[in-house]
Formats: sequence, C-alpha cells, structure tokens
Amino acid sequence: MNIAKIRELSAELQDKDAEAVLNWAAEAYGNRVVLASSFGPEDVVLIDLISKTGADIGVFMLDTGRLHAETYELVERVRNRYKISISILFPAAEYVEPVVAEHGLNGFYYSVDARKACCGARKLKPLARALAGKEAWITGLRSEQNVTRTDTKTVELDLMHGGLVKINPLVDWSSADVWNYIKEHDVPFNPLHDQGFASIGCAPCTRAIQPGEDERAGRWWWEQKDSKECGLHPAGAKS
Ligand code: ADX
Ligand code: SF4
Repeated sequence: MNIAKIRELSAELQDKDAEAVLNWAAEAYGNRVVLASSFGPEDVVLIDLISKTGADIGVFMLDTGRLHAETYELVERVRNRYKISISILFPAAEYVEPVVAEHGLNGFYYSVDARKACCGARKLKPLARALAGKEAWITGLRSEQNVTRTDTKTVELDLMHGGLVKINPLVDWSSADVWNYIKEHDVPFNPLHDQGFASIGCAPCTRAIQPGEDERAGRWWWEQKDSKECGLHPAGAKS
C-alpha cells in the first residue's frame, strides 16, 4: 500500500458510515484484517457492528497483565454474547522482567521513559505479534479523544507497522454517539464506566475522572496531555 492509494481510499471512505467501512474492510482484506480491542466503549460498538455485518473479522486483545478484573469479566461477557473468537496476547517474560528489574513494578509513575518501557514490553511487543502477516487493522480511535488524535483519518498508512493499513471506522463519532449506540443496542460495557471511568487502560494507570474533565484525564493522569500515548498510536508514524 502506498501513500497515493491511501489518500484515494481515505477520500472515498471519509464520509461512509462505520458499517460501510467495516464491510469494505472485510471485503478488501478478508482474514488479513483484524480488530484491536481493549474492550473500551468504541471497541464493543465495533464488535456489535461487525457481528451485524456478518463479516469474519478476527478480534484480539493485548492483555498487559495489569488490567482491571472488570475488563476480564467483560471480555468473557462479550465472547458469550457474540460467540466470537477473541485472541488474547500476553507480554513475554523476556521483555517484561528487565523493565521491572530496572524500574520496579510501578516505575511508570516516576518517569515517562519508565512508562514507555512498560507499555513497550506489555503492549507494543505483543501488538507486533498480533499484526504479523496482516495487511490491515481496525481500531476504535476517535479524533476527539486527545490532542494527539485530532488528525486521525478513517484510513491511514501505519508506518510503525511496515505500512499496514489502519482503519478507524468511528473516527468522527463523539463520545455521546458511542454511548447512544451502546444503550440503544444493549451492548455489554465495562461497569467501571458507571463509576466515573471514561477511558480505561491498565488498572494502575487509569482512574475515574471528575465532572468537566476531558475523557482521557484519567489515563496516565500524572503526565502531560501530549505524552499520553502508549505507542500503539504514535502521532507522527502515519500518512
Ligand atoms: S491507548 O493507546 O491510549 O491505550 P485507547 O485506550 O485510547 O488506546 O484505545 C484506542 C484503540 O486502541 C482501541 O479502540 C483499540 O482499537 C486499541 N487498543 C488500545 N488498547 C488495546 C489493547 N489492550 N488491546 C487491543 N487493542 C487496544
Ligand atoms: Fe504499563 Fe501502565 Fe503502560 Fe499498562 S498502561 S503497560 S501498566 S505503563
């Protein structure tokens, strides 16, 4: 896939609704496209939409080993509801152990470098395995989520993963759009959202937000907004 072709696709798909984008992805890539799901609100919406299209798109979750009990419970509820197969990828001891040896189990609180090393070992290494042999991946990114995501497009070239196509069917949805869909279609969601958690990642790096705070304020709350990416979606590595 090259930049000219991506721009063409992007222009073609920019105004299509999420279901049409998912249908296109399934048709264009078959089993060479996969959905990355952290089981956040956007991801459960995508799973529901995929189940409606009947497209055979695989789902994977990166289990960092530090997720909330509620997230694991949700994975199993979704698995039972939709009868889909979900690949769970674990981090390898050979990457995690040196990070813990150097920074401690909770070193992420004390430096951005330590935090990135932890995300690198627990998320990025397994992500590379999840995407090996694929041509495209689907995510629940929305442009409203953070300053690092404002220029997200429906279709992008993911330069970090060797030019894979990255598909973001909900890019233009607001948080309200996502929650309206969840309520309207009775989609399973993480009960932590009812306790003030807006965006949910690893347990030690996520907390509830206060009224008026932005939706990612509870993620890595001790860091500046512009460093709040774990590396899954680096702002500069796309076209
Ligand atoms: S993160 O990079 O800050 O953690 P965020 O939680 O906003 O990302 O999720 C954005 C999208 O990244 C999700 O919709 C999903 O596609 C993907 N994603 C994030 N975390 C995971 C995970 N643990 N496993 C699989 N996909 C994930
Ligand atoms: Fe480690 Fe926190 Fe990143 Fe999870 S979000 S991988 S616990 S630094």
